[in-house]
Amino acid sequence: MILVKSNSQIAEMRKANIIVRDTLNLLRDHTKPGVSTLELNKLAHEYITSQNAIPSFLNYNGYPASICVSIDCEVVHGIPSKRKILQEGQIVSYDVGAIYNGWNGDAARTVAVGIITPEVQRLVDVTEQCFFEGVKCIKPGVTRLGDLGHTIQTHAESNGYGVVRELVGHGIGRDMHEDPDVPNYGIAGHGMRLSVGMTIAIEPMITMGTYEVDWMSDGWTVKTKDRKPASHYENTIAITDNGVEILSL
Ligand code: MF3
Ligand code: CO
Repeated sequence: MILVKSNSQIAEMRKANIIVRDTLNLLRDHTKPGVSTLELNKLAHEYITSQNAIPSFLNYNGYPASICVSIDCEVVHGIPSKRKILQEGQIVSYDVGAIYNGWNGDAARTVAVGIITPEVQRLVDVTEQCFFEGVKCIKPGVTRLGDLGHTIQTHAESNGYGVVRELVGHGIGRDMHEDPDVPNYGIAGHGMRLSVGMTIAIEPMITMGTYEVDWMSDGWTVKTKDRKPASHYENTIAITDNGVEILSL
């Protein structure tokens, strides 16, 4: 069931998403070789709670941390650990969710640790572009989920990259995961229309090699099957009368 939001509810979601955005900026500013992902988790947890918000990932289906930190071939849901230390040349994806006044925000960024190769930088750049190409294609009440997925997939694949199939974006509101599923692949003209009042998280997960993934024995971490790098970029958006508003930017 799609839960359509009023303008005042979207205004509440904006607040949650601003906290998420600011947390991601804080994480980016603390990204350097030698930092453990557990330290970054603590930084994010303390910032979110200082804003009177709740880190939504903590204890979500038993998830044991406040954020996800995924390095290189880890696509998503990397668990912070004191033994995981950032190293020069890596890429690190931060995924952050916060609940403020009962409303959810959810966003992700992939950032470089020090200097990375031009090849990997291009993967990061194209992943961001996939999100913005997707947003650009949305005409409220007209565009369908299949059009959105097709646009993202086309941008990724025309750049030689893979699109993860087993994880998708999602509706978001009072719950972090609401209907509908928002795949990063699809067939133009298919699926539900994106109409005014819908709030969704669009989150391309783009791979340098195969789009196939493996789940690790920790029950969470998802890696590319070929262990080549992957990049993740996510924002929560609202479809409004004025077009698309990106709430977590
Ligand atoms: N941000 C993720 C998503 O978009 C959720 C992380 S999974 C969790 O679905 F368990 F860590 F919450
Ligand atoms: Co999400």
